[in-house]
Amino acid sequence: MCGIVGYIGWRDAAPLIVEGLKRLEYRGYDSFGVATENGDIRVVKRNGRISDNHLDLSALSGTIGIGHTRWATHGVPNEQNAHPHTDCSGSIAVVHNGIIENYALLRRKLTEKGHHFRSETDTEVIAHLIEEYYTGDLLAAVTETVRHLEGSYAILALAKNDPRIVAARRSSPLVLGIGDGEMLCASDITPLLDHTERAVYLEDGDIAALTPARIDVYHDGMPVERQVDHITWSVDDAKKGGFPHYMLKEIYEQPQAFYNTIKGLEGDSRLAMVRVAPELTVAACGTSYHAALIFRYLAEDYGKKRVNVELASEFKYYAPPIRELVIAVSQSGETADTLAAIDQAKAHNCPALAITNILGSSITRKADWTLFMCAGPEISVAATKSFTAQLAVFMAMVNAMCDREFDDVLAHANCSIERVLSCTLGKAVALISEAQEMFYVGRGVFYPVALEGALKMKEISYIHAEGYAAGELKHGPFALLSPETPVVAICVPGRTYGVMLSNVKEMKARGAPIIGIGIEGDTEVEQVVDVFIPVPDDHQMVQVLTVSVVLQLLAYHTACALNRDIDKPRNLAKSVTVE
Ligand code: AGP
Repeated sequence: MCGIVGYIGWRDAAPLIVEGLKRLEYRGYDSFGVATENGDIRVVKRNGRISDNHLDLSALSGTIGIGHTRWATHGVPNEQNAHPHTDCSGSIAVVHNGIIENYALLRRKLTEKGHHFRSETDTEVIAHLIEEYYTGDLLAAVTETVRHLEGSYAILALAKNDPRIVAARRSSPLVLGIGDGEMLCASDITPLLDHTERAVYLEDGDIAALTPARIDVYHDGMPVERQVDHITWSVDDAKKGGFPHYMLKEIYEQPQAFYNTIKGLEGDSRLAMVRVAPELTVAACGTSYHAALIFRYLAEDYGKKRVNVELASEFKYYAPPIRELVIAVSQSGETADTLAAIDQAKAHNCPALAITNILGSSITRKADWTLFMCAGPEISVAATKSFTAQLAVFMAMVNAMCDREFDDVLAHANCSIERVLSCTLGKAVALISEAQEMFYVGRGVFYPVALEGALKMKEISYIHAEGYAAGELKHGPFALLSPETPVVAICVPGRTYGVMLSNVKEMKARGAPIIGIGIEGDTEVEQVVDVFIPVPDDHQMVQVLTVSVVLQLLAYHTACALNRDIDKPRNLAKSVTVE
């Protein structure tokens, strides 16, 4: 997915757009560009990251502009494929987030009509289509253009001598910011935070014309009114706040994120829905999927409720029989696979409940109900506080299933999370940072905790970390164990503590160095493992949280030791809005 920003008002557009793109770099960062209108359309674009480039903005005069930071889908990352893209004459400029699925046919037809293309992208067909339909009215040309597009888009368009930005959205997010004598538009609210607290989230199919004084929104050719929301996030929320990386800041924000989410759900009657539904199906991707797996163990163990957990990318094509309620979990609310899971639920006449962190995101428009995480903006590509906030929602659901038996446990969990933020990991990092591959193992609910720990390590340190059910390792992966393959083993009290300890000894016997996570004072574990990391002796649900935070910090400090790009790991983006 990519990030797009537009500005129209009384100030120089280019510097504001560049700052807005830097706020959106987590959405994609392989190339970037800016276009302005000032009696002519001017475009400057570069390969690489906007934060790594000093862009000479002198050529980009004007108070109307659009910009883009790219995560390549069609066409390799290079300057030619960077957005904005223009029409043949360079009088129309477009930036786009999404995928135009019928671009090849459109490109062929436009080429036959004499249009010449400069890039390999799907986006460029939009600029030439607008050119095809442009008779002096950009709004009319864009309206006609999108009728011919298949796929997903959030588009911003400029035309020479047209004092407007025209915006259009289908399946990719687009939010407008209402300022004083100026308007902004962006892929999410973070670029707006410096300029306004008033936001308008466009709906699928909306087309908007922005001037410095007003926004006109159209749907199916008719003017419509869209609600103006009040932005509650502050500028500081979206900045590093003195931390070296967003990821560390967001790890440290977890006590508050958990506490705020639990508090935000107090008295929410919709939690009871999960209690009455005979069966639950949860669909998600990546870290959100791991949160769902943890929910399954807790709901079945404490709430005696059957929960099916599906990878959203599989669910779209191989959905099992669905009963009653589908829960779709997505921090961004824009993950294409998870949005498709809701479509699948609807196709089976099944209601859908969304869990997300982003007000106005696409998932909130598709689902019948939405429960919000109160994690605040998560900028780093690696999910941390959003994961903890998702667990807060899920644990609140389990608590609702159990007549609020865990009110006190959940009300104070943030204190234990706070405590493990200061855990010392030097020995563990030293052991891991030399490894090429490693394992994370756990049993019961700590099996998905191990999966998530491994994902964190994979995605920011680039070490091949594999999460496994501890009992499963001897059925093959033992062959990979050696003194060069560290194993992180989660050995906290529970019905599988004894057998877990046996598993650790079996792995030790094969020479693997073991990093054991156990409760404070557990000398039995401490004596067996090579490095012991203690967590507070809490209720199991709280231990899920504290162990997860330790594993986030382990990944973070290992990645730092390896000089990785913590907040923007290679090949990744914060939210995957394509299949
Ligand atoms: C997790 O660290 C990754 N960023 C990734 O797995 C992420 O959880 C996944 O893409 C789902 O994102 P979502 O929660 O926004 O849908």
